[in-house]
This record gives sequence, C-alpha cells and structure tokens, in this order.
Amino acid sequence: MSRFWSQVVRDLTPYIPGEQPKIANLIKLNTNENPFPPSPKVLAAIQAELGNDAARLRLYPDPNADLLKNAIANQHGVSAKQVFVGNGSDEVLAHAFQALLKHEQAILFPDITYSFYPVYCGLYGVNYRTIPLANDFSINPADYCGQPNGGIIFPNPNAPTGCLLALNAIEQILKANPDSVVIVDEAYVDFGGNSAISLVDRYDNLLVTHTLSKSRSLAGLRVGFAVGHSDLIEALERVKNSFNSYPLDKLAIVGATAAMEDKAYFEQTCRAVIETREQLSADLRSLGFEVLPSAANFIFTRHPQHDAAQLAKSLREKSIIVRHFKLPRIDQFLRITVGTDAECKALTEVLREILG
Ligand SMILES: Cc1ncc(COP(=O)(O)O)c(C=O)c1O
Repeated sequence: MSRFWSQVVRDLTPYIPGEQPKIANLIKLNTNENPFPPSPKVLAAIQAELGNDAARLRLYPDPNADLLKNAIANQHGVSAKQVFVGNGSDEVLAHAFQALLKHEQAILFPDITYSFYPVYCGLYGVNYRTIPLANDFSINPADYCGQPNGGIIFPNPNAPTGCLLALNAIEQILKANPDSVVIVDEAYVDFGGNSAISLVDRYDNLLVTHTLSKSRSLAGLRVGFAVGHSDLIEALERVKNSFNSYPLDKLAIVGATAAMEDKAYFEQTCRAVIETREQLSADLRSLGFEVLPSAANFIFTRHPQHDAAQLAKSLREKSIIVRHFKLPRIDQFLRITVGTDAECKALTEVLREILG
C-alpha cells in the first residue's frame, strides 16, 4: 500500500494464476495446459514471418489481425465481422465485462466458476450476484431465467468442475434474457462440448469466447477470441481501440492462424486428450476417488477419506503439482489437468502409494 495508489487499486483483489514453477522434472498438472506441442505449422509460420531479417519486427503488426479473424471465421462458419481477437481470452473477457456487462443491474454467474470473473467486476465496478450450482455441481438454467440482471456469464464446460451444459439449456437462458448479454466462455469446449457459436446467428445477445491456450496448445502465445453479433463485436473493438491498438504481435497473428487452419492436428490431439481423460478418470475411481463427469482437459475429483490439501501437498513432495482451491464447497476437491498418458500413469501410481 502506498499513498500514490488510486482508490481503485486499493480496493482490488487481483487474480492469482496457477503456479509456473521453475523446477526441473516436474509433472505439471495445475494450469490446464495441453500436454502436446502446438501444430508443427505454428513454428513454421512464425519462422517464415521472421525470415532471416529481424528488421521485420520494425513495423507494427496489423491492428485488426485480419489474417487471424478470417481463419477463425472460416473454421467456425461466421463472417469476420462477427469475430474479435485479443491477447488471450482473459483480455477478451476483460473487454467484454467493460463493454457489455457494466450496467446498473447486477450480473449473474455461478458460485463456483472461473475465479477471474469477480476480479473483473472489482476492476471495472460491475455489480454481481452469484447463483449456487446444484448439489451435483451442474448449472440449472431455470436459475438464470426470470430475474432481472445486467448480463450473464458462465464457462461451458464450467471451470473448475468440467461439467457441461447442453445447448438447449443455453438457448433457454438466451430466450429468457433478450435484453441482457449472455457470455458463454468456451475455453474448454473442444474437449467434449458442442459450441454455442452455432447459435450466434439466431441470438443477438450471445457472445461466445474461446482460447487457443488449451485445445490449440498455445498458452505461451496468448491468443483468444470472441464470436457474436457484429454489434457486440463493435463494442469490444471500441474498448480495445481505447486501450491497446496492437494486442496481438506479428508472431502471434501468424502462429495462431496456422493453428486454426490445421484442423487435422487439432482434432487428433483433442481426441488423444479425451482418451487419456477417460482412462485417468477410471483409474482414479478404482482408487476410491469420486470424479465429476468432465467435458474439459481436466478432471475435478475428491477422495472421501483423504483431505484434498494434504493430497496436493503429498503429490508436490513427489514433484507432481495439481490445483487445490481453498474455497467454500470445493475445498475437498483437486483439479487435475489431463497430461500425457505417461504423466497420468505416474500420477495414479504416486496416488496409490500415498493412499497406502
Ligand atoms: C474458464 C476459463 N476462461 C478463460 C481462461 C483464460 O484463458 P487464456 O487467457 O489463456 O486464453 C481460462 C484459463 O485458464 C479459463 O479457465
């Protein structure tokens, strides 16, 4: 705290990202990164962009990242005017809070969800009300219908639970809230869900956000995007152009474009993650863990006889890190990223030892 801090900064409770430890030989299953490298076409595109001439970095990148917007539009069957791109979906979400969710009424999101949402509310002065998930950790769409609100946001699949909401339930929420923007954060949808992007032409109040950090293995490049009605996209562009004209650098634009275009690699790696997730879930269940059904690249699990914080600590002593949230309702759960087959096998073996 310093006397130079603004009131906004004094009142902030910043988001705490998962650890990126600088320890060798760690099995890192704590931040939902993809265990596979990105498509080889990503590196080729970045190298081609640089060529042998670093002077190419002398010029600013395309502020509109048209190359990438067109690739996203092609992959998702929408027009480029319906696409917004940003420096990670966190930045896209941040702009959406300011551009589309900051109204007089409180916005709604689940009590257990991506913990960045309340942080954006704090940063931008957005009021919010949390809606408890059902006992099985599912979202009940009826809870989001019939109550006045300034907007609605939830991840699908939800994080950190991995639970999926069906598209018809999302439609129910959209229909019941024609005067609010409904943001569906699909950071993990490629690992088992159907995207609500198929609904954007029918609902002008729907914004869908995606990231290239998970299913495209590009967490290090920082690229995310949103798809929605062109009026919603224009609102995001207005905020972006009042904040940073060039959120994506030249290398990120060409690398992300190559990743979007390599559909075969994307589908193959997603399938592999899903297969490993199902094997890991079965292995953990055989050790007595309860595992929530996951449509994401992580699983959410608890052991009825073992304290979650203690399990996380014991795993860490064996160089395996997973995520534990000290939060109401979920403090007995661990969120475990789906790693390679070998990493998941090692995790199961170490857990077997710990459980005795
Ligand atoms: C639900 C959800 N949304 C958005 C993000 C942000 O992803 P990124 O900023 O890497 O695109 C994350 C990251 O873990 C997430 O879990």
